[in-house]
Amino acid sequence: MKVGDTHYRSIWRDEGTGAVRIIDQRWLPHDFPVVTLEALEDFATAIREMWVRGAPLIGATAAYGVACEMARDPSDASLARAYDVLHETRPTAINLRWALNEMRSALGRLPEDQRAEAAFAKAARICDEDVETNRLIGVHGLEIIKEIAARKGPGEPVNILTHCNAGWLATVDWGTATSPMYHAMEAGIPIHVWVDETRPRNQGAQLTAWEMNGAGIPHHLIVDNAGGHLMQHGQVDMVIVGTDRTTASGDVCNKIGTYLKALAAKDNGVPFYVALPSSTVDWTVSDGVAEIPIEERDGREVTHIYGRDEEGRARFVQISPDGTPGDNPAFDVTPARLVTGLITERGVADASREGLLALFPERRETA
Ligand code: MRU
Repeated sequence: MKVGDTHYRSIWRDEGTGAVRIIDQRWLPHDFPVVTLEALEDFATAIREMWVRGAPLIGATAAYGVACEMARDPSDASLARAYDVLHETRPTAINLRWALNEMRSALGRLPEDQRAEAAFAKAARICDEDVETNRLIGVHGLEIIKEIAARKGPGEPVNILTHCNAGWLATVDWGTATSPMYHAMEAGIPIHVWVDETRPRNQGAQLTAWEMNGAGIPHHLIVDNAGGHLMQHGQVDMVIVGTDRTTASGDVCNKIGTYLKALAAKDNGVPFYVALPSSTVDWTVSDGVAEIPIEERDGREVTHIYGRDEEGRARFVQISPDGTPGDNPAFDVTPARLVTGLITERGVADASREGLLALFPERRETA
């Protein structure tokens, strides 16, 4: 997506040096630092500490982490270590395991002297495919927005609520939940987006609002608890969120608070859509609540809040009494029964095993 006059992806290789660059998202929207990742530990730190975040981007970053490690040491032991070090950075988003498996199976049988080049080529393919997948999610999601727009008065915007950041910053480009929004803008269909702030890390306030602003999409930032009220008053036409892991039966694990939005949507008859690349489906898991590991993050993310002080410095500010313990589950699971549809690169599936298999029949053996 464009930032100023420049088209950015969220991760890329420098054309001259081949260095892997990312946007350090911790400092958005106040700063836009582009940093270079070199060593395996840089990649692990960037994922663990959320310089990059969002399920597809975590996977893409891990893929380049393996590639850089192969350039340093292409041995079997090094490949196995890279897999393990990157795999343990964040537990919930399945795209991480998916991308690491892709890398391992592309490299495992190659002679060592061919591994580095093949690894960079494979990581680049993962990134390019992510961009195309997300573009297609936008094409399919646009049809849903069009249907809702057709039921509204001429020129009346379709009001879309989203949670967290499932935007281009969370993927390589386009985003998942945001791709239908960007496509609607391009198609001239008026939309307005309610952006949940998304405590504790405020990905909505810091990242999604920044994306909406950059793309000129009308939006309002709302506190996490406002969505139910807005739905009761007919101010939300649809919800679109992303997901970190979707079960073979259509349960959806996403940023903490997503489940409450889905409950409110159900109670108010608001369609609740989840946008995802098929790499986010964990075909080995059926019961999301029981089986998906939920990341527990540092309680200080809850007792403190990040912002910019009067001198423009980024800071964490304490908002609770000294010594208050914070508890910080980072994701929750929305059961399939609350999900209207899964917007994938192949079309919109019912949130069910049969719905997913109708679009991905090649998975019938594994699901
Ligand atoms: O903790 P984060 O910022 O990595 O969580 C991101 C989300 O929950 C996104 O909604 C999800 O990864 C989908 S990204 C297309």
